[in-house]
Amino acid sequence: MSTPTGTHGLADSYGRVATDLRVSLTDRCNLRCNYCMPAEGLEWLPTEETLTDDEVVRLVRIGVEQLGIREVRFTGGEPLLRRGLPGIVARTKALDPSPEVSLTTNALGLSRTADALAAAGLDRVNVSLDTIRRDLFHQITRRDRLDDVLAGLAAAKSAGLGPVKVNAVLLRGVNDRHAAELLRFCLEGDYQLRIIEQMPLDAQHNWSREKMVTAQEIFASLEAEFTLTPDPEHRGSAPAETFLVDGGPAKVGVIASVTRPFCGDCDRVRLTADGQVRNCLFAREESDLRAALRGTATDEEIADQWRLAMITKRPGHGIDDTTFLQPTRPMSAIGG
Ligand code: 5AD
Ligand code: SF4
Repeated sequence: MSTPTGTHGLADSYGRVATDLRVSLTDRCNLRCNYCMPAEGLEWLPTEETLTDDEVVRLVRIGVEQLGIREVRFTGGEPLLRRGLPGIVARTKALDPSPEVSLTTNALGLSRTADALAAAGLDRVNVSLDTIRRDLFHQITRRDRLDDVLAGLAAAKSAGLGPVKVNAVLLRGVNDRHAAELLRFCLEGDYQLRIIEQMPLDAQHNWSREKMVTAQEIFASLEAEFTLTPDPEHRGSAPAETFLVDGGPAKVGVIASVTRPFCGDCDRVRLTADGQVRNCLFAREESDLRAALRGTATDEEIADQWRLAMITKRPGHGIDDTTFLQPTRPMSAIGG
């Protein structure tokens, strides 16, 4: 692909081109979702290894100006824990061409920051919420913070950070029987629910194919209460298969990462909070842009290194292969 400057974008050896950059701003989190982290948390990245705001913005700028990045999503851990977030968003939005900027968050504290983020130019948020039952929320996240999340969701909507999406993971025997209830809540609040198949990215390595709630099971539980029809809108590279709920216009999405992989259409690339490029969630190698940043590398040299990092992108995640190896970094250190 040619970018406006005439240089080459982030193409891999299978012809896919990354235009969607996911930036993890911290590996820390104020929840402890049990499918993500152990109760005691993880060994966090030392501050000096974490990119500064200026370093993050420089890499994003190189991505946008030289490598054809058109969408930037800030993730974590929990990106709202990053003090400089509104500034990072504003500086990202001010780039030319101005990318679409979104956030994946657990929404704790979002009720206080949604307006500032909207004013900084944030376009949209995705909020992680697996249940609206207080006891189950506490059980899953190990924190009694459901009310904060609900307040954050409402604040995001009134700040205009929409369409507000809700991401949910179903856990067998925990919240899997309440998918329809969560959908009803989302329909009433005008949030777009997307249910994600659990992937082997937990720090504890407890994932198993048998315990994972499949897309097929997700459909079955939603269809017990709603009529789902395929969304006529084109899916493109979006991972969610979307359906009209009871004839529309409301929609629900199912992200069948494991049972119906969409790797062939992947347009994503990831940057960790310590400045490593990952060409895939499941990548086994990373390219250290932080070393380049903190050395004497020019923007052009960093762009070249980033392009090179795409060449090893595999055709698919290979979760079903006998040789599959879970990445050493958990989801919270990669970014969703
Ligand atoms: N598989 C699928 N989704 C996950 N998330 C966290 N861990 C996993 C996993 N192993 C989700 C969170 C949040 C987003 C960042 O990714 O629930 O919505
Ligand atoms: Fe935090 Fe997200 Fe992991 Fe939950 S899934 S502990 S909200 S990083």
